[in-house]
Amino acid sequence: MTLPVRLGTLSSPPKVPYREGQSIGVIPEGIDKNGKPHKLRLYSIASSAIGDFGDSKTVSLCVKRLVYTNDGGEIVKGVCSNFLCDLKPGDEAKITGPVGKEMLMPKDPNATIIMLGTGTGIAPFRSFLWKMFFEEHEDYKFNGLAWLFLGVPTSSSLLYKEEFEKMKEKNPDNFRLDFAVSREQTNEKGEKMYIQTRMAEYAEELWELLKKDNTFVYMCGLKGMEKGIDDIMVSLAAKDGIDWLEYKKQLKRSEQWNVEVY
Ligand code: FAD
Ligand code: A2P
Repeated sequence: MTLPVRLGTLSSPPKVPYREGQSIGVIPEGIDKNGKPHKLRLYSIASSAIGDFGDSKTVSLCVKRLVYTNDGGEIVKGVCSNFLCDLKPGDEAKITGPVGKEMLMPKDPNATIIMLGTGTGIAPFRSFLWKMFFEEHEDYKFNGLAWLFLGVPTSSSLLYKEEFEKMKEKNPDNFRLDFAVSREQTNEKGEKMYIQTRMAEYAEELWELLKKDNTFVYMCGLKGMEKGIDDIMVSLAAKDGIDWLEYKKQLKRSEQWNVEVY
């Protein structure tokens, strides 16, 4: 679910300015099994710096409710995700931060920005894309290429699809959008359509883009995606006689390869 959280209260104005690509910490209500307050959990901010209402007073989160069956067959609910998903309008929540430097949006308005997200990993990219395509700023007019790859299990979990399609319709030369719906789509070999499977369809093009010094790659979401994406990059780089893992180190040093997986 997407959750707009109002920062501060009417009597105490908000003091939480944040930047696109940062996260906030949430401290769920209640105590843990040792009687101590719950620890904070981090959530990527899914709104641009001015917030979804444009008044710099809210922050939006995209939260997946964690529910799983443990080894003993019991149903376990994740503490903080369920706390957030069960909040009602007007309820209060303790937040900390903002934090995070890894996913900060590049300032160059002519950059190529390749965004690789799975599940709730879409959050920081929604933040970037709102700034690029839904807002007007005196000091920032995006005129580069934004290319979003988004991996989700089913088409009903394709978050923000309408927003992204609207952006694409208005900015066909600056925005590319590719979905990978793992439980409904396959590639020609009949393999499950993961984000890296979709990226492989554009392998050469992606590799050419990665050689430019104003291309920035951002990856956010499931831990497992990092290895899958490395695997396709290894073979692409090898065709040019390049060792991908070394090349990736260079890209990381120049802040062109940014990863936040959890
Ligand atoms: P907890 O009560 O903390 O339970 C989680 C624990 O349950 C796990 O550590 C594991 O031990 C166990 N567990 C989980 N699944 C299973 C399973 N299938 N089988 C057995 N055991 C299991 N989450 C979002 O929804 N949206 C975001 O935008 C987001 N951004 C994040 C950004 C960062 C930088 C980081 C580090 C994390 C982010 N997360 C995000 C994840 C978030 O911080 C929490 O980890 C998540 O919401 C689960 O917290 P919880 O309190 O609900 O679960
Ligand atoms: P699946 O669950 O079908 O295996 P969510 O967080 O909403 O569950 O979405 C995560 C998406 O990432 C799902 O489509 C999931 O597919 C997919 N996924 C799971 N494992 C990997 C992996 N190793 N590499 C890339 N995508 C993955």
